Amino acid sequence: AERTLVLVKPDGVRRGLSGEVLRRIEAKGYRLAAVQLVHATPELLTQHYAEHAGKPFFGSLVEFMLSGPTLAVVAEGVRVIEGFRSLAGATDPTTAAPGTIRGDLGRAWDGAVMQNIVHGSDSPESAAREIGLWFPGL
Ligand code: GTP
Ligand code: MG
Repeated sequence: AERTLVLVKPDGVRRGLSGEVLRRIEAKGYRLAAVQLVHATPELLTQHYAEHAGKPFFGSLVEFMLSGPTLAVVAEGVRVIEGFRSLAGATDPTTAAPGTIRGDLGRAWDGAVMQNIVHGSDSPESAAREIGLWFPGL
């Protein structure tokens, strides 16, 4: 079955929402293939967010992702990549639809940093690349 990388970002872990995110993934019928609490490094984040290198928010995004542990999850299921992005909702939590993780639980911006609780891979190529970064043994 298809696999995706989900991250419960430091804001989500800090607020005690890891279980809620895992619950929604499992309730939808996806399988948890791997789960690990990771304190990210600058090297890992520079690779993970390579597409955003050079954007004005890149520095604050990396700094935010270094502010505490992240729960890294590999979720598996039919069309899980698109399906998890649908569960997550729009990037900006102030406009994400109710019923989605970001819409129900996300808050506004904290300074320069958008705190939107979760990450989900956006394509099969991204998923393979990101799973390799966060779970080198998998
Ligand atoms: P991810 O699942 O986290 O990749 O979110 P996304 O695919 O919905 O958004 P995108 O890949 O475009 O951006 C990655 C992350 O960078 C977002 O989740 C935000 O945390 C952050 N981000 C994106 N756009 C902005 C922005 O305009 N300003 C700030 N401060 N952060 C942003
Ligand atoms: Mg993205």
